[in-house]
Amino acid sequence: MDKEHVFFENYAGTWDRDRKENPEILSFLVKLIGLSVGDTVLDAGSGTGILLPYLHQAVTDTGRVEELDYSHRMLEQARQKFASVPGITYTEKDILKYKLPQNAYDAIVCLNFYPHIAQYKEVFIKKMTNALKQDGALIIMHDMARNRVNALHDQGKKTLSCVLPPVDIMATMLITAGLSVSIAMDTDSYYFIKAEKKQYIPYEQYPEPHFQEETSRQETDTSGHSHVHSHTQTKAVMNRLARISGHLEAIKRMVEEGRDCSDILIQISAVDSALVSVGKVILRDHIDHCIVDAVKDNDMEAVDNLKKAITTFIK
Ligand SMILES: C[S@@+](CC[C@H](N)C(=O)[O-])C[C@H]1O[C@@H](n2cnc3c(N)ncnc32)[C@H](O)[C@@H]1O
Repeated sequence: MDKEHVFFENYAGTWDRDRKENPEILSFLVKLIGLSVGDTVLDAGSGTGILLPYLHQAVTDTGRVEELDYSHRMLEQARQKFASVPGITYTEKDILKYKLPQNAYDAIVCLNFYPHIAQYKEVFIKKMTNALKQDGALIIMHDMARNRVNALHDQGKKTLSCVLPPVDIMATMLITAGLSVSIAMDTDSYYFIKAEKKQYIPYEQYPEPHFQEETSRQETDTSGHSHVHSHTQTKAVMNRLARISGHLEAIKRMVEEGRDCSDILIQISAVDSALVSVGKVILRDHIDHCIVDAVKDNDMEAVDNLKKAITTFIK
């Protein structure tokens, strides 16, 4: 057991007394999550179950709330307090070592938990993403201001002063990990980020496109080519572009706020590779669906245009 684990075991008995829960803020934050009746939720780093009644009220008896914490005594407190509440499971595990079920949760909620795994954030975010169902959401939230959170963890030592980063940095990390950030708020009384696992259908899994009859081709083409564009990847491309655009907004804010140049450059390079990947998807789609038709129709102009596009893209 490491020092932090021992700290929480020792603190479990007086946690609720010292924590001073604010029901108004917690209700508000749980509303922001947008849970539905019947949902399955993981309360990560659940402690004594402060959030449990709010989550249970949102998903009701037909849903499921899993309280996960590595502290035996913290979970024991929760078990005693909520013994009569149905649909609750208690998992005593270190979340970084535990093999969570895949595609299992509608939401994974981390209340006052992120700083405790911040050192392993990449591993953590990847694990949580795998454990989420499609369209499920990872929530990182605190019922206090970010500077208070960091002051608590800092305890006078400058080394840990950035454990909970500003929301735009956190949003950028989550977007880079492939999630779509739909809410990011940082106020004087709370911190809240919702990042969703949006559907991305790998190219290979797309259904066969339906080509139109020869006769209607010329009439419906508005592209200037003599063949019809049948793009199967439009939704995936739009999703990727939306992510890139959110990422760029976050970088703009970093520049405005005078953030460290090397952090900004890392983010710019992430956007750069994201743009190249989306270009590849478009190119592949174009080759497979437009050029195949163009070759069939002997449309040499379209083939020439493709050559020019490839030359520009790979320059
Ligand atoms: C600051 S407390 C928050 C508890 C609760 N969410 C709340 O807001 O009252 C952090 C909790 O995370 C748990 N914890 C820390 N690291 C953990 C890990 N790697 N795996 C599971 N639980 C962990 C601690 O035992 C503690 O109960």
